[in-house]
Amino acid sequence: MRIAIVGCGFVADYYLATLKLHPQLQLTGVMDRDPERSRRFSQFYGVPIYASLEELLADPEVEIVVNLTNPGSHFSVSQASLNAGKHVYSEKPLAMSLPEARALYDLAEAKGLYLASAPCSLLGETAQTIWKALREEKLGTVRLVYAEMDDGMVHQMPYEKWLSASGTPWPYKDEFEVGCTLEHAGYYLTWFPAFFGPAQSVTAFSSCLIPDKQTPVPLENNAPDFSVACVQFQSGVVARLTCSIVAPHDHSLRIIGDRGVLQMKDAWFYRSPVSIKRKINIRRSRITSPIPERCPLVGPGPKKYAYKGSQQMDFCRGIAELAGAVQENRPCRLGADYSLHVNEMVLAIQNALTESSAYRLTTTFAPVEPMPWAL
Ligand SMILES: NC(=O)c1ccc[n+]([C@@H]2O[C@H](COP(=O)([O-])OP(=O)(O)OC[C@H]3O[C@@H](n4cnc5c(N)ncnc54)[C@H](O)[C@@H]3O)[C@@H](O)[C@H]2O)c1
Repeated sequence: MRIAIVGCGFVADYYLATLKLHPQLQLTGVMDRDPERSRRFSQFYGVPIYASLEELLADPEVEIVVNLTNPGSHFSVSQASLNAGKHVYSEKPLAMSLPEARALYDLAEAKGLYLASAPCSLLGETAQTIWKALREEKLGTVRLVYAEMDDGMVHQMPYEKWLSASGTPWPYKDEFEVGCTLEHAGYYLTWFPAFFGPAQSVTAFSSCLIPDKQTPVPLENNAPDFSVACVQFQSGVVARLTCSIVAPHDHSLRIIGDRGVLQMKDAWFYRSPVSIKRKINIRRSRITSPIPERCPLVGPGPKKYAYKGSQQMDFCRGIAELAGAVQENRPCRLGADYSLHVNEMVLAIQNALTESSAYRLTTTFAPVEPMPWAL
């Protein structure tokens, strides 16, 4: 199927690096509102360039628009693409507000078009292996999930030196202004509804712990740089997800069931190992075995992708899934309803910064002194 890319920024290089794994996808051209960006990108990869979004959308060859713009542009670019009769694969988040996300969903429905959203790591070998283990009830009944999306103090890192393969700098201003929840919560929240079914409620707390990130260009707004949420799924499972760009790097996942605990180190690696520590009876105690049992990874993906980065993901697998769904006239695994549900959960966590109904304590106490020998 023929695809065109809108947005030739940092992430677009990851898409180009994995596009060759999906020969059924043909790139007709690329476009960016910054003409210098599209010129450099098209030269670097030797791909045709569209002078404007209008020109791209007017090309009858284009069947799927891949929206790799900044989150603030996702809605307008996806809306224009659907209105032009194109299927859309959007980077996450689907939209920055629920009314906008719903409007995209309704538009796709009304036009009979496919709309899908990244991340697509649910289609990765690790997520599929975990899902299989859950279906095979290797953990018994699942009760609780702990998922971490901590990236360390990114504002203290040398992010100005981070360049994509074609030379685009990491968009620190946009990343900090959008915030790590909208940017990263979806990595786990696209897995859990597949594993556990629809969510029922989100109870969240968000905060901006480092308002002055001392960026070269001042930030225009302070998005949450820390959030914690408990998602209650209709099936009874509760997942606690933490996102931050404050706490040390930790992308781990633990799924706790009656018969064992599944663990995995990093959702950003499609081939991150999966293991289970079983519950065992020893004498008069029931303990979690200290020895993990490896779950062999299912799936055909390569051991390594041909790019450098803090992740190893096949960014184009989601587009391939969408293209397959269109061609086979079947539901897309990352379809519009699924993407909308994920977007709603993510927004609920993000919006807890301003809309949470946190209980405010009515009591206080006099300061407690340390022991004299500890002064
Ligand atoms: N940076 C990463 O490592 C990373 C990883 C995974 C996903 N993503 C996601 O990818 C998306 C893009 O991120 P990025 O890091 O590439 O950002 P970026 O700022 O480097 O690139 C975005 C590009 O989109 C262009 N753009 C914005 N609005 C446009 C419009 N209306 N029409 C045409 N072009 C427009 C910008 O000029 C820019 O070149 C975001 O949704 C982000 O969450 C980023």
